[in-house]
Amino acid sequence: MAEQINPAPRLLMGPGPINADPRVLRAMSAQLLGQFDPQFRQYMAECSELYRGVFQTKNRWTLLIDGTARSGIEAALASLIEPGDRVLVPVFGRFGHLKVEIARRCGAEVVAIETEWGSVFAAEVLERELKKHRPKLVAISHGDTSTTMAQPLAELGKLCRAHDALLYVDATATLGGMDLPVDAWQLDVVSAGLQKCLAGPSGSAPLTLNERAEKRIVRRRHIEQGLKKAGEQDGDGPVIRSNYFDLAMIMDYWSEKALNHHTEATTMLYAARECARILLQEGLPQACARHAAASKALCAGLQAMGLALFGDQKHKMANVTGVHIPAGVDGEKARRALLEDFNIEIGTSFGPLHGKIWRIGTMGYNARKDAVLMTLAALETVLSQQQHRLPRGAAVDAALAAYRAL
Ligand SMILES: Cc1ncc(COP(=O)(O)O)c(C=O)c1O
Repeated sequence: MAEQINPAPRLLMGPGPINADPRVLRAMSAQLLGQFDPQFRQYMAECSELYRGVFQTKNRWTLLIDGTARSGIEAALASLIEPGDRVLVPVFGRFGHLKVEIARRCGAEVVAIETEWGSVFAAEVLERELKKHRPKLVAISHGDTSTTMAQPLAELGKLCRAHDALLYVDATATLGGMDLPVDAWQLDVVSAGLQKCLAGPSGSAPLTLNERAEKRIVRRRHIEQGLKKAGEQDGDGPVIRSNYFDLAMIMDYWSEKALNHHTEATTMLYAARECARILLQEGLPQACARHAAASKALCAGLQAMGLALFGDQKHKMANVTGVHIPAGVDGEKARRALLEDFNIEIGTSFGPLHGKIWRIGTMGYNARKDAVLMTLAALETVLSQQQHRLPRGAAVDAALAAYRAL
């Protein structure tokens, strides 16, 4: 017989997942309800309203996709892309490549443009590519945890409208930690996950879409044969090729129609609801400031240790920091020592950055002073143990000074 689950008390300081807020874990221990129970429908409606607050939107269609963050990406792309549509994907890290791959599977003619990892796109470049390719859809990450960079998006929505393209934004890594006013920035569809700045576990993807996107989706609506009532008409657009990620069906399921689709992931809805409540109780500006402060203090500490930060610092995400592994240090051995001796997890990296940088997250429940200080103190010891020379004690002092200077 396997033992009862008893995970080590890790401090998760990687690029996600992070430790869940204990309030979220408590909400998840509540008993299940049937998905058409009036009390549960009320919880669903509350979730929509809470996430309107989180996304800073009035969008009617603000709901949860059951699955990890990529389920939100897949639902958006599968429902927006019709086979043969041209889709522009600006790639500034691994999660841009993910959108290329999903868009291709949806039958899109994908135009991928790339910039070096550690940089983002200038607005003029995006405008030029929009004019050149005239895509039906632009799909882009807000923050890409693989490079720790955040793409400025304030102007892109307007540009996309001017060129008659829809804009999908993957805000998995930033929602709740960096400002993302969906309506003010004219973002058509945005999705996220819980396991980063929202302080929850992965497994639910909050998503919002506006009327421009709705129009494109509902013309593809069709009702499953077993649910169809006499006289009901399908839309005249091509059927969305995924059933699970068919946003037209999921909208019918979340609406007053309550048309059956999948069995709701009840416990994940409880989690998502509590994540939003925690965030809105703190206040969005306060949560963003907390993330920025933790990031600033972490960076000050790393630099005081003599380490070099990765990437264009003007466009660094507020919640994940890339730092070069110093010469002579075995990056994986250091991560192992952090885990085994201190119960602290930090992130490795992918693709061209593999073996070159570590990624340290300060987000959600862990965007806290004590978590930052403990991580710096532990990293300093681990580096010293590998004979890397550094000024002992400087990192924690610098981080404390950064917090004091706020
Ligand atoms: C920007 C971005 N998009 C998508 C994902 C994928 O999320 P998930 O693993 O929850 O499916 C991640 C995960 O790190 C991410 O950072």
